[in-house]
Amino acid sequence: MEEIGTVVGNTAPTQFDCLLSKLAEKTEYVEINHEKCGVVLGQIDNVEIKTRGEARDANEEIGSSEYRAIAKIKIIGFRDERNLLQVPHTPILPGSPVFRASEETIREVLGLGRETRTGAYVGLLRGHDIEVYLDINEMVQKHISVLAKTGGGKSYLVGVLLEEFMKHDVTCVVIDPHGEYPSMRESGKLPETKRNFHVSPRGYSSKIQEFSPDIKTNPAARPLRFTLSSMDARDIIALTTIKNVRQYLTHLRKAIDTLRQTKGKYTIDEIISILETEQEYVVGTLINELEYLKDVEIFAEVGTHVNDIVVKGKTSIINLRGTPPDIQELIVTRLCNALFELRKINKIPPLMLVVEEAHNFCPQQGQAASSKIMRTIASEGRKFGLGLCIISQRPAKIDKNVLSQCNTQIILKITNPNDLKAVCASVEGITTGTMDEIQSLPIGTALITSPSLPIPVFVDIRPRETKHGGEAVKIIE
Ligand SMILES: Nc1ncnc2c1ncn2[C@@H]1O[C@H](COP(=O)(O)OP(=O)(O)O)[C@@H](O)[C@H]1O
Ligand SMILES: [Mg+2]
Repeated sequence: MEEIGTVVGNTAPTQFDCLLSKLAEKTEYVEINHEKCGVVLGQIDNVEIKTRGEARDANEEIGSSEYRAIAKIKIIGFRDERNLLQVPHTPILPGSPVFRASEETIREVLGLGRETRTGAYVGLLRGHDIEVYLDINEMVQKHISVLAKTGGGKSYLVGVLLEEFMKHDVTCVVIDPHGEYPSMRESGKLPETKRNFHVSPRGYSSKIQEFSPDIKTNPAARPLRFTLSSMDARDIIALTTIKNVRQYLTHLRKAIDTLRQTKGKYTIDEIISILETEQEYVVGTLINELEYLKDVEIFAEVGTHVNDIVVKGKTSIINLRGTPPDIQELIVTRLCNALFELRKINKIPPLMLVVEEAHNFCPQQGQAASSKIMRTIASEGRKFGLGLCIISQRPAKIDKNVLSQCNTQIILKITNPNDLKAVCASVEGITTGTMDEIQSLPIGTALITSPSLPIPVFVDIRPRETKHGGEAVKIIE
């Protein structure tokens, strides 16, 4: 084992300083022999170089008389005889040698690298050949958040998670505002990397179903429609630009009541025909608004059945590319309500609901139509086997009630100070050293916290098996 320094100065049971004899990096793992506890794992939280006198020669070696490199080390702990993670209760003795941690110690203390039946392989521990698996049951039961700035690698990573979910026959519904996920039907090209992540390209066409309200823009999708007769007048007006609701409500209600009594099921055209027989001036505006809804093609006499969308072991992508924001909100609201209600009575299988651009569907400020159901799923979904994965580039703009319910947090590069603050407030056990790191993370490296990990870890995300659909459009090829 490689010795990198010696314990110096004042020590405590959970932290100490190490005078480095070799260069070591921030966030690197170290191990020491504790008198009572045996091998203990620690992590370098920061490295400082201290000069004794005037610095004369910038090339002076680490450990020489002029320079002292001190690593601040936080102790993570050790596994006891029952394999539980413990931290020492007595300080490390000054003078003890400090070693670079062996892969075996890291695996054992962090509980990594063990493939299990329910583990999702997401990548390799940064700087090590240790595979990181996240427990799928835990992710579904305790919800996930994926946060990073635009271009930080969120969708790429969610693609990795979805591949693992599909491999393990997890039922998923993906709210996909930009149509980034249908490309997962096709196999991808592996990027050229020096590291071997043990990934082979493959597609998942047999596992994926795609639905969209706009099948002209998304021709591979099946139409997503709602039953018009299940909407009341107020719901319908909420989808229009009408502000003065009261004035129109009575007219629309009357028309709908007439149709309900005579037909049961009806179309927007039929509502319009009835309104056209009215003489009143305001009805004209209402008709114009209904014409707009007709163009969006979201309603049908018979809507899409939830049992067609949620199929055991399949991933259903709700492709909202081309759908206006107000209609997207309606879809998310109605679909999520249906998923929650049907899960409660076990009419659909347990599932994972993945929501891209979550700040639009459960904003911190203001209210989206979908806010209420998103909150309900975040706080109660776990009881009914309805897991939530929210993705956003603006953590500060997501409803804190929803964000705080996510116990598996996957954080990629974030630079906006407000967003960093929001993340910092929602992640337990994050140190200032780690916070600094988030700002300078390269694309493809994530900080992951999870109830099964004793500390947040940095993970180099594995390449995708499938084609990533979120590539930025190049102006010049
Ligand atoms: N783990 C990764 N490995 C390799 N390339 C990646 C990785 N993550 C992201 N990228 C690249 O970065 C680009 C942006 O990632 P993307 O997931 O679309 O960003 P976001 O959804 O956060 O806006 C992708 O097109 C992809 O080429
Ligand atoms: Mg994205």
